[in-house]
Amino acid sequence: MRFENQTVFVTGGGSGIGRETALRCAREGATVVVADVDREGGEETVAAIEDLAGDADAVELDVTDADAVRDAVDAAADTHGLDVMVNNAGIAQSNDPLEEVSLEERDRIVDVNANGVWNGCRAAIPHLKAQGSGAIVNVASLAGVVGQPWSAAYAMTKGGVAKMTRSIAWELGRHGVRANAVCPGFTDTPMVQGGLEERDDPEAAREALERRYALKRLGDPEEIAAAICFLASDDASFVTGHELVVDGGFTCG
Ligand code: NAI
Repeated sequence: MRFENQTVFVTGGGSGIGRETALRCAREGATVVVADVDREGGEETVAAIEDLAGDADAVELDVTDADAVRDAVDAAADTHGLDVMVNNAGIAQSNDPLEEVSLEERDRIVDVNANGVWNGCRAAIPHLKAQGSGAIVNVASLAGVVGQPWSAAYAMTKGGVAKMTRSIAWELGRHGVRANAVCPGFTDTPMVQGGLEERDDPEAAREALERRYALKRLGDPEEIAAAICFLASDDASFVTGHELVVDGGFTCG
């Protein structure tokens, strides 16, 4: 029970990796605040936690709204305390080359994937610093580590998230607070399923993708949640400023 008597705040907790992270933290004893712009998704995650006799609150939150993020994190910290901040909310990019991505789409991706993580860190850090302990886990991507075509805006945000995490690890270390990033490869969540469904032959597209992994499959969201929970827990007490690639061997060859 690595998160007994701890509170974990998860953005984008209403689906995919965020949902599995929330569930895993709850199973390991945490009170979980499930924040998502999709109210229904967040409530479903909370219901699943309550089915496990766990403790969770749903908060409808758009991570691009810095004031709302601060208010939600302050409220969670006042009610439950705050030990772990998981900045996971993110959106995908249309499958287009850079020059065909509209500026509106680029700005939206930057706002959610980069500024949203910034807003979560900005809100959580004062609480973690004040108590002199805690951990931040930011969800970046393999697209922030290696080049992937038709992902330029997404990659720009994910590379930025990974590097800003290293930067804040320096700022926070002296306060007893750790900050790490997880860089998942393709993981079987609604985000990826949606992208595959847009292809002419979704099944063939999935198989082509799977062949690129040493393990010959996509990740399960539970496997990314396991890595997030490792970095969030005392098992990683001497790990900070790390970009943990969880990619089924995509980058090993
Ligand atoms: P998902 O689409 O299943 O879940 C994302 C969640 O974030 C959704 O519940 C959505 O409502 C929420 N969200 C979106 N915009 C938001 C906003 N402005 N404010 C608050 N919540 C918002 O996606 P998945 O796959 O679980 O992705 C989670 C994170 O993992 C994202 O940051 C994504 O970029 C990253 N990632 C995913 C990979 C994959 O292959 N699925 C690979 C690498 C990284």
